[in-house]
Formats: sequence, structure tokens, C-alpha cells
Amino acid sequence: MKGVILAGGTGSRLHPLTRITNKHLLPIYDRPMVAWAVEALVGAGITEQMVVTGGTHAGEFLRLLGNGQEHGIDRLSYGYQERPGGIAEALGLAERFVGDDPVLVMLADNIVERSIRPAVDAFRADPTGARILLTPVDEPEHLRHLGVPRFDAEDRIIGIVEKPDDPPSNFGVTGIYCYGADVFEVIRTLEPSGRGELEITDVNNHYVAQGAMAYDVLEGFWGDAGESIDAYYEVNDFVRAHGANKG
Ligand code: DAU
Repeated sequence: MKGVILAGGTGSRLHPLTRITNKHLLPIYDRPMVAWAVEALVGAGITEQMVVTGGTHAGEFLRLLGNGQEHGIDRLSYGYQERPGGIAEALGLAERFVGDDPVLVMLADNIVERSIRPAVDAFRADPTGARILLTPVDEPEHLRHLGVPRFDAEDRIIGIVEKPDDPPSNFGVTGIYCYGADVFEVIRTLEPSGRGELEITDVNNHYVAQGAMAYDVLEGFWGDAGESIDAYYEVNDFVRAHGANKG
């Protein structure tokens, strides 16, 4: 299984911090944000990884991660996204790197308390369709910033709504996704959304429509450190007190 870490985008919600660097290079406790995603993937046994970034600070990722060996990576590739055209567009840049393998995608601003290994192992056992990780979220105001699944009476996902005004459940879709290698064919069928991006939620809804979407509910803390300045500090405080990616 290959791993793709997405670290592009504009980071506009963390301005002015992100005027001088890429969001994913800002510190979370004792290391740059992206290093936690690398550790999450290595902890799930994914040692072939690609980091996709963009903008003017891309070279700093090379300085930080080098060839990856110090971080437990066997093979590290880099991709460059010319403009922030969306999460699904950024993933599309990894097509040749991923080849015919299944792929785990992680947004580099997501931080998890507990290892993602159980979910990744479940996908390894049946590496077709898609498998996503959900997290319980109680506050509607928070859900309005996330992808939110709608369930049927048997708790199957029947649709995902991106940033809903009226959240259809109390779960958020985290930025951790497993896909079969056919995901790149799905990306080719996408049209840009109203905000001009290729949306990962459209990819996920494709698999929902095929009846090929599985999910796990994450245990422990989950945070999106890019959501706001307050969220950034909340994630920092949590990781400093409790750590992340714990087995
Ligand atoms: O964090 C979880 C949420 O992430 C999900 O609940 C949403 O369904 C999903 O759309 C996404 O929402 P965000 O509003 O957080 O997405 P954002 O535009 O902030 O992008 C998240 C990461 O994706 C960012 O840290 C880097 C990467 N990215 C994003 C864009 C738009 C790229 O690499 N390239 C891009 O063009």
C-alpha cells in the first residue's frame, strides 16, 4: 500500500502565519506539522510515501524530510501542485507514484491521537472501493466546516455533504482516506465545484453511489490544525499534553 500526504493549498485560514511559510511546516509541539502525518503512515506500515505540496516553500519539505530514511520511510517522492485546485486534484498528481496499488491519503493538517493502523489493516484485507475515517463531533458549528455523512437505518453511509448548513449527522469525515487504484479514474470524471476545486467529497460520493464505501470511527482525539488559529492551538495543546499516533 502506498501513502500520499497532501500539503498544498493556501492555508488562508491561518493568515498571517501562512504568509511566510507553508501551513504544514508550522510547529505542532516539537516538530513541523507534516512530520506527524509521516509518522502516522509509517506507524500503519506504509513506508512508500509521496508528499504533494505547492507554493513558494516547497523546497523546505525536502530540507525537512530529505530522502525519508530518518523518518522511517523507505522511498519518498515529492509532487508539486501548480495551483490550489483542490484535494482531489492534488491526489491526482500521485497517479504514477501509486500505480496499481491501493493508497492511503492523509491531509497533512490532520492529527490523530491513536494509530490509524487498524483501519489501514482493514482496508489491506479488502483493498477495493474506499474506506474513510469518521470522528464524532457534537457542535453543529464545527460540523459546518467539515464533510458530514448521512446514514441509513442500518448505519450505512448514503451520502456525504461538504460543509453543510444543516449537518445530517454528528460525525465529521476526517482527512484520512483509503482507496483502490481506480481512484484516479474517478478523479478524471470530476468537475470543479462552485469554489473551483476538485473535491474529495465528490470522490467519496462516487464510492457511496457504487455501494463501495466502508468506514471506521476513530478512537481518541482528532484535530484539523488548519481549520482556524484556535484549532491550531487546540491541536498544539493536545499533542503537547498527550502525544499523537499512539499504538
Ligand atoms: O480535515 C477534514 C476535512 O478536510 C474534511 O472534513 C472535508 O470533507 C475536506 O474537504 C477537507 O476540508 P478542509 O476545508 O479542511 O480542506 P482544505 O481546503 O483546508 O484542505 C485540507 C488539506 O488538503 C490542506 O491542509 C492541504 C491539502 N490541499 C488542499 C487544497 C485545497 C492540497 O494539498 N491542495 C489543495 O489544492
